[in-house]
Amino acid sequence: MEPASGVTKRLVERLSKATDLAVLTGAGVSQESGVPTFRGEEGLWKQYRAEELATWRAFEGDPGLVWSWYDYRRQLVSDTEPNPAHTAIAELEKGYPHFSLITQNTDGLHDRAGSSAPIELHGSIWRARCTAEQTVCDLLESPLPDVPPHCPTCGALLRPDVVWYGEPLPMDAYEHSHQIASRCDAMLVIGTSAVVHPAASLPLVAKHNGAFVVEVNTAYTAISALVDATLLGMAGDLVPEIARRVLEAVGSPGGATNPVSRTASA
Ligand code: OAD
Repeated sequence: MEPASGVTKRLVERLSKATDLAVLTGAGVSQESGVPTFRGEEGLWKQYRAEELATWRAFEGDPGLVWSWYDYRRQLVSDTEPNPAHTAIAELEKGYPHFSLITQNTDGLHDRAGSSAPIELHGSIWRARCTAEQTVCDLLESPLPDVPPHCPTCGALLRPDVVWYGEPLPMDAYEHSHQIASRCDAMLVIGTSAVVHPAASLPLVAKHNGAFVVEVNTAYTAISALVDATLLGMAGDLVPEIARRVLEAVGSPGGATNPVSRTASA
């Protein structure tokens, strides 16, 4: 009998036969760490929605307000820890010859969980960019001593090194992600509503190129009808279960004591 979570034997087999796994994450993967997702009530700060603050126009109009929101989010994140979903994603990496993690999150929790090279499609709240020179610097202090912060070199305003609404993604990060989606043979899509493009198109690129695409989410999303399987539930429950069973199947050190090798299970 298959486990109630929907992590079926067939699903584990398909994932464990892949040699190139891509994982795409969104805000839902950090929700159990206590980081609010963007859509829905918990995404509001004061009376503002993210879409009203995360724009160049909002920043130009009131950089102090926009930075106060980021300062709030940075403090909130610095008080949290990676959850079992982040840790399981970092573990999964050990089971694959080719593994890529692409995240829409700017919170840095994948890094803190031990993932080796997350591609941050939407940037990071722990970096800032000079609005005059475009140089990027780490900005780790939380809370910020000055809001809005200024460039230590030239004194111009700093902006968060994140992608705002209406802005293009960093070209190298997007091209790299697109290549990964085109060539991977399996993709796990975790905790994203899949409505913000171009990130949301990556699972469709993977599917179009023949990959086995599995979604993990507490609710159906914009791409549920197009993927191979949707596992409904909390990422912190489902992703560790997937990782444990896949690592067992591929015989990785993170798996069981009686592993089945990738060749034997193929
Ligand atoms: P959203 O807030 O749009 O969606 C979060 C998704 O996670 C929803 O589909 C939820 O159902 C799901 N979810 C919530 N809690 C979960 C849990 N514990 N386990 C599994 N799933 C859970 O966040 P994103 O899709 O990441 O962009 O949003 C994409 C982009 O929109 C963000 O990167 C940000 C935002 O505007 C920029 O800032 C450019």
